[in-house]
Amino acid sequence: MSTKPRILVTSATGRTGTPTVLQLLEKGFPVRAFVRKLDHRSDALGNAGAEIFCGNQYSITDMRAAMVGVKRAFQCAPAAPNLLLFNVTFTVAAYEAELEHVVSIGQWLASADHPSVGTRAVYLSDILIQIPSGMTSTNINVGWFADNYLRALDSAAHLGVFSMPLGDGNVKKNAAPSNEDIASVAVGALIDPITHAGKTYRPSGPELLSPNEIAAAMGRALGRNVKYRDIPEKMMFKAVKAAPPPDFSETALTQVKQYAAEYRHGAFAVNGLTRDVEIVGGRTPEDFESIARRYIAKRPDDFKPSFVAKMKAIAGVVKILTTRAPDMSLIEKQKDLAKLNSPTYCLDNTEWCDTHEPKDLKLVKGQVA
Ligand SMILES: NC(=O)c1ccc[n+]([C@@H]2O[C@H](COP(=O)([O-])OP(=O)(O)OC[C@H]3O[C@@H](n4cnc5c(N)ncnc54)[C@H](OP(=O)(O)O)[C@@H]3O)[C@@H](O)[C@H]2O)c1
Repeated sequence: MSTKPRILVTSATGRTGTPTVLQLLEKGFPVRAFVRKLDHRSDALGNAGAEIFCGNQYSITDMRAAMVGVKRAFQCAPAAPNLLLFNVTFTVAAYEAELEHVVSIGQWLASADHPSVGTRAVYLSDILIQIPSGMTSTNINVGWFADNYLRALDSAAHLGVFSMPLGDGNVKKNAAPSNEDIASVAVGALIDPITHAGKTYRPSGPELLSPNEIAAAMGRALGRNVKYRDIPEKMMFKAVKAAPPPDFSETALTQVKQYAAEYRHGAFAVNGLTRDVEIVGGRTPEDFESIARRYIAKRPDDFKPSFVAKMKAIAGVVKILTTRAPDMSLIEKQKDLAKLNSPTYCLDNTEWCDTHEPKDLKLVKGQVA
């Protein structure tokens, strides 16, 4: 039997949760994987050696049960409208269970007056988790994941375009980390609380890339020419409405709108390159082309060029163009999303700049303007 402490991983079947579970198991830690349902993903985690706990992260009763016999935990709240409720539920249960150390996923943008209600929820959650005395914490303050770009791999493969509302294609705005590299930083902090308690890390990829460079890397991975196209936000809303991704609600779209705006402002470029993956995660950060190649290798048939696939992709574009854009203001009103009178984006927020800025913020602002 392992003498190492048992670690709870929430959202264990998610993008970050799964590699966190697998990397902890590889290091010999007993892991309890909190999943929402039993399916092939939970089976894979169970087969790898994780103990599966099936429950609802909104339920304090389930969270309490999940923490019995646990010493440390990784809190990876689902990116859902009620993110604050997820984090309050987790923190209360962690406090009652007297956990010794927790690692939580935050957000690079987290700030008090951000226009995104989700981002403000992360800001509050980060404070909340530090309150219980006797429990230490580490915050993974991650920026824009590489995974976000790779949602566009199908259209890159069949139409040769990478379309996102990211602004000027030539400006280097993000060094996106892979899910596995983010997980490695979480794992580093979970297995060595003494070194990492009270610290904040921002996993990054090895290089700041412009949207044109991201398109080119996708093209090399796919073996075809791929061009970046800066699309208006409205087109992104239409695309999501025309073919809603399974994990995307209308509320999520209202938040993504703010994140795309921050991307264009250059907030993800601020201190965009770190050595956290190397130092805390103990690995060399994966470059974007390698990440894309891995995604393609997972379902190669979907990316093979064919007349049928191209026609399907064109039909998808026609559907997007003929779909009426959702009324984002109406959605915000209907969902009763808490709004501030004077919200501020990160680069206009003095507190955020004071705590996130690199040596020369003016330089970064000039670079990304
Ligand atoms: N993407 C970015 O660029 C970015 C940037 C900064 C921070 N983040 C943060 O990173 C975190 C998570 O990222 P991720 O991409 O790894 O998550 P993810 O892949 O979306 O995974 C979410 C997981 O939570 C599970 N889940 C949802 N609701 C649940 C509930 N009520 N009870 C139990 N399980 C539930 C889902 O299960 P099912 O699949 O079974 O539904 C899924 O496995 C989020 O907090 C997000 O805000 C993301």
